[in-house]
Amino acid sequence: MVLDINKARRETPGCFGNIHLHHSGSALMPDVVADAVNTHLETELFQGGYEAEDDAREKLNGTYASIARMLNCASSEIALSESATASWNSAFYGIAQTFRAGDRILTSRAEYVSNMIAYQQVAKRTGVSISVVPDDESGQLNVRALESMIGANVRLIAVTHVPTYNGVVNPVNEVGQIANDYQIPYLVDACQSAGQMPLDVAQIGCDALSATGRKFLRGPRGTGFLYVREQSLDKFPPSVLDLHSATWVEADRYELQPGSRRYELFESNIANRIGLGVAVDYAMSWGLAEIYSRIRFLAEQLREMLAQIDGVTVRDKGAEKCGIVTFTIDGVDAEKFQHEMRRKNINVGVSKRNCALIDFDDWGVDSLVRSPVHYYNTEDEVEFFAKQVRRQAVAPG
Ligand SMILES: Cc1ncc(COP(=O)(O)O)c(C=O)c1O
Repeated sequence: MVLDINKARRETPGCFGNIHLHHSGSALMPDVVADAVNTHLETELFQGGYEAEDDAREKLNGTYASIARMLNCASSEIALSESATASWNSAFYGIAQTFRAGDRILTSRAEYVSNMIAYQQVAKRTGVSISVVPDDESGQLNVRALESMIGANVRLIAVTHVPTYNGVVNPVNEVGQIANDYQIPYLVDACQSAGQMPLDVAQIGCDALSATGRKFLRGPRGTGFLYVREQSLDKFPPSVLDLHSATWVEADRYELQPGSRRYELFESNIANRIGLGVAVDYAMSWGLAEIYSRIRFLAEQLREMLAQIDGVTVRDKGAEKCGIVTFTIDGVDAEKFQHEMRRKNINVGVSKRNCALIDFDDWGVDSLVRSPVHYYNTEDEVEFFAKQVRRQAVAPG
């Protein structure tokens, strides 16, 4: 199916006046998402928060159902949260309660910085060790190396599907096959891939997967979700509970919620959660395979243009590259470049060394520019942006 980009842009007010190339930070919401959030806030204004929530029960349930449809799982396997980090933490700090000294975590070089920090904190507490799986020659996680690193003491394989600072797409399905063959719990950080490409948790073979709403899914800020496979709930005991995640049934006894709702707490931003459901439906109405195909087309165009500019180095690696386009310009500070672009109403992001120490130290760079494309960007925008990069490369500052 050819996507009607003009329609997508008409439905995206932020397209007017901006060239938005900052999707690995936060995308532009379509107006249906903002409308859904605002409508609920207005209901809260006139009826009260709890009353508005009661009236919106069906829409809220719809958010779980939509995410489940997108991921090919049951809606009882979904927990909503306020961010990808909150969701990932629920799974990781849950399973970490079962770790003992001498256990090992296998993870990717491209692992999200907060995940790396969490591993280190838990390593200090429990004596678990962290092994980083090398990349293969293409720059993606080396699946054969991963398999060779497996031993009896590996308690978790945790992989970032698409990192925050690079276009590489890690082979999560192949990793899942290994995790399942060796019956090792498998946690996937899909924060940058959700909304950008099709995600099927059955195909990935993961026990748990976390993502955010505001990036490629185009949902509101302050939203995230966690999938935990029904049969894997016991592997990830919740690390915190409240009256929503558990029920107090006797003076000295509580019962956990039956499904993944056990990873949620009571209070939440209902308007944003409704907006997230609308964003997921909106993405699926375009089709995630179609979205990904358009994204890859635009990203390849941009990479080709950037690669032709003297002094510009495209940093994306891996056998499969997604919409996250990253580069450095010799002698040009990435943040200065970002500010310069902002003055021209072009939104781009910056990744710094402390987001991804391993790769940045290998490259010998402190920061890079991220200019991820989405399906509603145009070829003209990509070309215009590449021209701006050329100007900066020729006349730094
Ligand atoms: C790969 C990856 N994981 C997790 C996160 C954290 O997402 P959030 O800010 O929604 O917690 C990010 C944010 O950039 C990310 O890129």
